Amino acid sequence: MREYGEATITDAVLDRVANAPDSRVRQISEALVRHLHAFIREVEPTEAEWEWGIRFLTETGRMCSETRQEFILLSDTLGVSMLVDAINHRFPSGATETTVFGPFYAAAAPDFESGADIRGHLKGRPMYVEGRVTDVNGLPLAGAVVDVWHSDEEGFYDLQRLDQGTGLAGRGRFLSGADGRFHFWTVRPSPYPIPDDGPVGRMLKAQGRHPFRPEHIHFMIVAPGHRKLVTHIFAAGDKYLDSDVVFGVKKSLVEEYQARHGGHAPDGRVMDGDWFSLEYEFRLAPAS
Ligand code: BEZ
Ligand code: FE
Repeated sequence: MREYGEATITDAVLDRVANAPDSRVRQISEALVRHLHAFIREVEPTEAEWEWGIRFLTETGRMCSETRQEFILLSDTLGVSMLVDAINHRFPSGATETTVFGPFYAAAAPDFESGADIRGHLKGRPMYVEGRVTDVNGLPLAGAVVDVWHSDEEGFYDLQRLDQGTGLAGRGRFLSGADGRFHFWTVRPSPYPIPDDGPVGRMLKAQGRHPFRPEHIHFMIVAPGHRKLVTHIFAAGDKYLDSDVVFGVKKSLVEEYQARHGGHAPDGRVMDGDWFSLEYEFRLAPAS
């Protein structure tokens, strides 16, 4: 009979998974065992601490529902989502960089004609957004599907207020024109805390971290023959740009949300009071 102690148990478990028929399962299982055992050897948890860890993961699972994915939030706040994103989007230079997807996308978002106002019931100061979709050489991509979503001026997404019966707002789907362009009106969003009333929020507090994301607008752009682009455009000057709780900021994705007053908007609308404008060129990597 074999028995296992501190010095031999890691190799014993590695031996046990070494015959997994699928080579990828084998590779993942071996790495998981090696890293997990190394973590335990480094931390040397007490039994109470190990129980606490199991309880934390159990509560994380229990917090998950149709509208809340606490495990993704855990992955986001530990930088794992952005690491997976980086590994899977080693785009050629010239392509717009990707960032984290987040939990607030809605596949049921309405389709809009370019020029529409997507603010719905959201309150806030008017914002004009104009984008151009191109390939990495700057040639326009017509007919690209552009999904947009963002928070309101208080930092809440429409999905977080569905219980108030207000429906979807601050999101929509556009098609780029022959020149690759699309534009829309909305309201200026705001920095916001990620949902922090669960285990992830408690973890952030214990780690001495704030739960905020800098102000941003989400874009997901799909065009035939090109890699899907999931990204945000962050507002220049935001105080959380250097400490985004999910590590999603990249310099190339920070742009001025231009402050304006009165005058004419680029689409000819006569403006009264404060408003903002944002312009950005989205360059998609080739599919191959
Ligand atoms: C978001 O930007 O919508 C988001 C991303 C990661 C976690 C929470 C929210
Ligand atoms: Fe967001």
